Amino acid sequence: MIYPIITIPDKVLRKKSDAVDKVDGEILSILENMAETMYAAPGIGLAAIQVGITKRLVVIDCEHSEEKKKSPLYMANPEIVWTSRELSVYKEGCLSIPEFYEEIERPSECRVKYLDKKNKVKFLDCDGLLATCVQHEIDHLDGKLFIDYLSRLKRTSIEKKFIKQYKQKA
Ligand code: NI
Repeated sequence: MIYPIITIPDKVLRKKSDAVDKVDGEILSILENMAETMYAAPGIGLAAIQVGITKRLVVIDCEHSEEKKKSPLYMANPEIVWTSRELSVYKEGCLSIPEFYEEIERPSECRVKYLDKKNKVKFLDCDGLLATCVQHEIDHLDGKLFIDYLSRLKRTSIEKKFIKQYKQKA
């Protein structure tokens, strides 16, 4: 099932998501639907809040290509437990802020702790695009968007653009 994706300026995106008790059948089916939604978009990561579900759930697949089989990472209650001092810059985008890309600086490596699809505690060391993606998605769970890292001027201008589009649709 493909969920509709929520875009800015919807205030839902600013909500803090709640931890899940455990990854059971119900949570797993949400994660599977999120993955389907992410691939259809297409995108490389999706947080549950982007489809209006206030649970700490994330799906990521930074490596998917036409030739490779889809293997989404499912994460429940993901938490960054370590970040490198070294930073790197990626041009980020977000399914909730369509067609807007900007360079963002974040720790270039991180370690994430999460519950996997079998409700097992896992640790994953991330670098490159995956490290950026993990941090971007976990930010969503705390109501944070990548545009929050931009200068106030840039952020306000992109927000204004979306508010205008939103009003035109309404
Ligand atoms: Ni995003």
